[in-house]
Amino acid sequence: MTDESRTEFPPSIGVFDSGLGGLSVLRALREQLPGVPLLYLADSAHAPYGERSTEFLTERSLAIGQYLMGQGARLLVVACNTATTQAVAALRARWPELPIVGVEPGVKPAAAATRNGRIGVLATTATVRSERFKHLVSSYAAGLQVVAQACPGLVERIEQGDLNSPALRELVQGYCQPLRRAEVDTVVLGCTHYPFIRPLFEQALGSQVLIVDTEAAIARQAARRWSGPAPETPGGPLRLCTTGSVELMARFAATCLGWHDVPVTLAPP
Ligand code: DGL
Repeated sequence: MTDESRTEFPPSIGVFDSGLGGLSVLRALREQLPGVPLLYLADSAHAPYGERSTEFLTERSLAIGQYLMGQGARLLVVACNTATTQAVAALRARWPELPIVGVEPGVKPAAAATRNGRIGVLATTATVRSERFKHLVSSYAAGLQVVAQACPGLVERIEQGDLNSPALRELVQGYCQPLRRAEVDTVVLGCTHYPFIRPLFEQALGSQVLIVDTEAAIARQAARRWSGPAPETPGGPLRLCTTGSVELMARFAATCLGWHDVPVTLAPP
């Protein structure tokens, strides 16, 4: 991945994810910083990240960071829990001057919100297994019961635009079962793809369970770190690119976000 394709794009917030999930974070950024140029890269050719090694994710994250900066990014948002757990330290070490905002499962807000002391976390295998996640739990949820459930297969389906098939609903039901059995009252969506299927989680968990996601908090944090101009007029430049299918991304952006005219381009692999 090189930045030879440098095109005219103003200084911007660069956002990336393994694929389309981070668009949930981009939507929140758009709401909070409506005039700021946003550049998003979906690494869909390499999704899912959840079953990849730390080495692979570090290499990809560094390459994508380099590419986004070459395209004008002056702040980086790692809109992926998995890439954050595996690679944000390497990104910060490579570019100590660059403001970088990562995403972590909302264990802290969930711990503050739970009434019965039982929390569920739904995330990818790599996130659930990571040292960073274990540290997050011991820092903010010590003494609480935390049921962490890896959910392989969900990201793949969401990437294909499947947000409500019977097979997907069955997977969601299965992953929510241990959480229901443990009678958790608060559940963290620890993957940025999952907000797009939030209704399925609500159905599977029941209306008594509080669902916690982190997009708005991430956008607030990015807003605090952004030092460029921040016009309040909506409609700042927005560009989407993908290492996967341009058509799929354009369709997803139109269907899930109502972004019908946002340009989508192919990024180098
Ligand atoms: N959206 C990514 C996350 O937040 C999904 C990772 C994957 O591709 O498995 O972890």
